[in-house]
Parts: sequence; C-alpha cells; structure tokens
Amino acid sequence: MKKTHRADLSKKFLRDVIKRKNPDKMLEAAQENSLDKTLGVLDLIILGIGAIIGSGIFAIVGVAAAGGPESIGAGPALIISMLIAAFACVFSALCYSEFATMIPVAGGAYIYTFATLGEFAAWMVGWILMLEYAIGYIAVACAWSNYFMQFLKGFGHFLPGWLINPPIWLINDYKTATKILTDSGADPTSVIPMFHGIPFCINIPAILAIVAVTAILIKGTKDSTKIAGVMVFVKLAVIALFILVGAFFVKPENWVPFAPNGFNGIFMGAFIIFFAYIGFDALATTAEECKNPQKDLPIGIIGSLVITTVIYSLVALVLTGMQATSGNIPADFLKAPMAYVMTVAGQDWAAGLISIGSLAGLTSVLLVLQLAATRILYAMSRDNFLPRRLQKLHPKFHTPHVLTWTVGIVAILGTLTLDLNVAAELCNFGTFTSFIIVCVAVLILRKTDPDRHRPFKVPFSPLFPILGIICCGGLMIYSMQFLTTSALLFPLWIGIGALIYFHYGYKKNRVWEVLEARQKRQEKEKEITYEQQPIIN
Ligand code: ALA
Repeated sequence: MKKTHRADLSKKFLRDVIKRKNPDKMLEAAQENSLDKTLGVLDLIILGIGAIIGSGIFAIVGVAAAGGPESIGAGPALIISMLIAAFACVFSALCYSEFATMIPVAGGAYIYTFATLGEFAAWMVGWILMLEYAIGYIAVACAWSNYFMQFLKGFGHFLPGWLINPPIWLINDYKTATKILTDSGADPTSVIPMFHGIPFCINIPAILAIVAVTAILIKGTKDSTKIAGVMVFVKLAVIALFILVGAFFVKPENWVPFAPNGFNGIFMGAFIIFFAYIGFDALATTAEECKNPQKDLPIGIIGSLVITTVIYSLVALVLTGMQATSGNIPADFLKAPMAYVMTVAGQDWAAGLISIGSLAGLTSVLLVLQLAATRILYAMSRDNFLPRRLQKLHPKFHTPHVLTWTVGIVAILGTLTLDLNVAAELCNFGTFTSFIIVCVAVLILRKTDPDRHRPFKVPFSPLFPILGIICCGGLMIYSMQFLTTSALLFPLWIGIGALIYFHYGYKKNRVWEVLEARQKRQEKEKEITYEQQPIIN
C-alpha cells in the first residue's frame, strides 16, 4: 500500500515538473495584465544595437585579441573569431524570431521553454537567463565605472583632485582593488578599510549608473528607447570615427602572424568575443510591448545582428592592424583598446571622443539588459515562481517598478563582489545555454504543435536549429579547458537554481494549483445554483 502511494507521488512529481504551458493561455494572460504596446521596428533596431554594442567591442575585444588571465588570444585572426561567434548567433536568432512571433509575450527563452519542455526546464532557463542579463549587467556596470573614471581624467585641469583620483576602494570591487594595489607595490591591507573585520570596497560610479538606469526604466520603456536612441547614435558615430581615422595608422606587418595561437586562439577568441553579440535576444523579451511583433521582431533581431557583425569585423581589422597582439601587451590595451591605440597613434582628440562614445554605448547596454532581466522576472512571477506582489505595475508609469528595483539592488550587490572578466564569462555560459535550449525548443514544438500559426519560420529546419546547437555547445565546451573560475561557478549557479526550484517554486506552484482548482469549483457551483433559480417575470 505504502509502496503504491510512493509510486503515485513520484508519478505526480514527474508529471508536475514536465508540465507544459499552453501558448494560448500565455497569450490570454498577457492580454489581461499587459504592458503598454509602444515599440515599432525602428525602436527595436535601436534597442537591439543599443543592447549589442557595448563593453564587448569597447573593452573585452582587447582580451579576445591578445589573451587574458585565463585565456589565449586570437591575434589578428580576431576577425575570424568574430565571424564564428556571429555564425553561432545567427541560427539562434532565427529560432528566437520563430518563437517571438508565435508567442509574443514578455519572457523570451523562458516562455518558449515553458511551452515545450515544461515547468522545471522553464524555471532553470529563467534562472540561467539571470546569468546573461543580471550578471552581464554587473560586468557592463563595472566597465562603465572604468570608462567614467577615464573620462573624468580627461578633465584633469578643471576638476578637483579628489574627484579624479579617489581612493581605489571607492571605485572598484575588492578583487580588482587588491590587484591594482598589489601591482603598484602597495599593501592592500593598509589601504582598504575594514568594517567589523571585513574589507570594505564600493564601486560608487557603477552604483550611481545602476540607480540612474533603474530610475529611467521605471519612468517608461518608450522614454528608455528614446535615450537608447541617442546613445546608439553617439556610439555608432565614434566607432565610425575609429574605423576612418584608424585606417590611416594600420601597419600591415601587425597582421603577421595572422593566428599566433592557431585554432585554440581563434576558438577561445570566439568564446570571449561572443559577449559582444549578446543582446539581440533581449529584443524577444519585449515582444509584448511591440506594436506589430509578427513583422517587426524578426527584422529587428536579424537586422541588428547583421549590422553589428559588419561593424565588428571592420573594428577588428583596424584594431589588430594598429597594435601588435603578441608579445608584451600594455595593460591599457586590455582595458580600453580602441582609445589606447588612438593615443599611441598620437590622436588624443579621437581617444577622448571614443571614451565618451564608450560611455554612451555602455549606458544603452545597461538599459536594455536591465529591461530584459525585469521582463523575464515579471513573466516568472506571473507563473508563481516568484511572489506575485513583485508584478505590481507603477500606478503612474505602468512599469513593473518593484521588479526593476529588485534587479537594480541585486546588481548593486553584485558590483561589490564580482570581477568584470568572470562576470562576462559567466554571462557567456548562461547565454550559450539559453541559445541551445531555444534551438531545441523550436525542434520540439514543430513536432508537438505542428499546426500552430507561425508568422516566421526558421528556414532549413531541422538543419539550422541543429547547427545552432552544435556551434553554441561546441564553443562552450571548448572554452572550458582554459577557463577555471567561471567554468566552476557556472555549474554551481545551476545547482543553486535547481535547489531553489524544489524548495520554493515547485511547492508554490502546487499551492496555486489547489487554489485555482478551488476557485473554479466555486465558480461552477455558483453557475449551477444560478441556473436552478426559478425565472421570475
Ligand atoms: N553585447 C553587450 C556588450 O558588449 C553585452 O556590452
């Protein structure tokens, strides 16, 4: 008897965790509690480029070309790495477009997984997407802080010394501050203050940027796209300036040897520079806010990916032509490569403008990443994985202000602990995983729900989704042989996510199921009583 009961429970448990959500119900729910529809195709392309071009091309490109603490560089073959990363993205972009037009509700890959692989997989994807958006957001905020300090230094003659050269522990996380101090021969313990035995470092510029971006997003998506639009224009202008001016300083001998670290360097470079492409998928999370998602979303997603690939390839050619990427690499090249090579070429004015453009670029990426993180959490709370009160919309601006602040506060805490490189690598692992899942989900839904209306279909399916899985999975597995910290933290993140689901999300969903069933029963009973009433004329 006991055995049968246990077997029944196990069966129910299995049924629950693979319980799928009907896409029609998702569309219905989205209509009941929907966000304002304000985004057109141009807004989407602006949001897309706003999300894509950022610290990847302004900062991380140096590590991808010359190598970093745990990785080897691609050298001038960086352009090949960029094309490989773009190639891996394009299949996922097509799969995202199929889903985004078929189920245009907030939540992106999280929602698609719920429709195909069920409850547990959906929670895990939502959790993994937080790596991409929330942890990636922390990496960009740290880069923003570095560029901001560099920007202030440009006004060294006008600004007070305490503003230009504040204590290291006020503009860095603990790990970075310790490294900077140790490299300069100082003793970190005598510089970094202690608070109840704990070293105290706080990245104030990064925190101010996060607070400002949070406030802008709460005021409204349309306003944030307007601001992103200005930023996109500025960053495209400075990248054009870099390519046009830099082309005159290219020394073709720097392109030899073309691939100093062979295929290892090229693939590792592709893994690292993949960060520069992250963001186009964030567009799918705004599907619910699009005026015409069926037509505009695929154009927005694929269009922004193509535009950035062309721009990145030109930057890679000029950058590796201006600076040798093997041998002794200056630290400033790894921090701000585009500005550094311009300074070496004696073009300080261009270096200054590039710093301003980088700040604009990073700000627009911050806007889109936080917007995407909030929208996914919004969808997750609608599905009872998170407390429902988080869904509350702002009475005046109609934006999910509680969630926006939650993401902002988590990011502020993250800036106190995480290091930029590790955060970016973790973000890459999370994004590759979500891309793979979206490709798998397209294949599954084509089988389980073949008749559903698909305004946009991935061409050459199943070949294209399979190629997406192979490219993303291959790059991820390949990089693990070189990376240590992030390759350890990634499985840890997944383990913590699974624990949270089984101890909170699973139970909470079952409670809601009981409540909803009771509500339905009561409604039915009311209907029956009503039908039994005599008709009184
Ligand atoms: N692609 C974004 C960036 O490069 C995440 O900052």
